[in-house]
Amino acid sequence: MQFDDVVRARHSVRAFRSDPVPAELIRELLQTACLAPSGTNIQPWKVHVVSGDTRRRLEEEVLAHRETRPDDDKAEFPRSSKRKEPYISRMRALGKDMYGRIGIARGDDAASWRQWGRNYSFFDAPVGLIFTIDKELDSMSFLDIGMFMQTLMLTAKDRGLDTCAQGAWNLFWSATRRILSIPEDEYIIAGMALGYADTDDPVNGVIAPREPLDQIVTFHA
Ligand SMILES: Cc1cc2nc3c(=O)[nH]c(=O)nc-3n(C[C@H](O)[C@H](O)[C@H](O)COP(=O)(O)O)c2cc1C
Repeated sequence: MQFDDVVRARHSVRAFRSDPVPAELIRELLQTACLAPSGTNIQPWKVHVVSGDTRRRLEEEVLAHRETRPDDDKAEFPRSSKRKEPYISRMRALGKDMYGRIGIARGDDAASWRQWGRNYSFFDAPVGLIFTIDKELDSMSFLDIGMFMQTLMLTAKDRGLDTCAQGAWNLFWSATRRILSIPEDEYIIAGMALGYADTDDPVNGVIAPREPLDQIVTFHA
């Protein structure tokens, strides 16, 4: 695929087939993602690749932990849940489209909670990724992680694989920390589902719209 086609073809996938991803291919994707830029080249990214029994245990224990409505339903680092316009409208439009496609009615909190919980089974993807970062690093390093993740997602798409970036994994972090033995001096920044899209699942029909360029760009001359 041409580069632009890869960029256009990548969408967040939230239902996967069970087909395994070969270990060599996962290594290749990660090796390419390491070419992402980072401020002063510190390469702060650390990645846990989760599959097999560990993935199953992680899913079970994080979902069970989540049901207890624990204190760590907030990220360890500052995250605001406040939203204002125009962000609220964009977020609601995404939710309306997604929940509409899978038949969850507005206000059905139990079904929404269950659907959001699918993040913690990596939407049935065969591979889950958890990204961590040293707590002592500057917040600029969060950008570095984002660059790494996007490079990984585009490389995956180029090889016929699909992904979903998952901020959800920075919540309920204590169970994830315990199961993956993530040191206390690292933040769990995000997760990512990796595998082959189930194209029959309606949730994958979501195409998140983008704002017109004039809404976001100011040209100065
Ligand atoms: C930092 C980040 C965190 C995200 N967290 C989640 C998440 O926890 N769960 C989820 O289903 N999608 C998550 N997404 C996917 C976004 O909803 C998605 O990127 C956005 O709606 C645009 O759609 P697209 O990726 O299909 O272009 C996340 C994306 C990013 C970049």
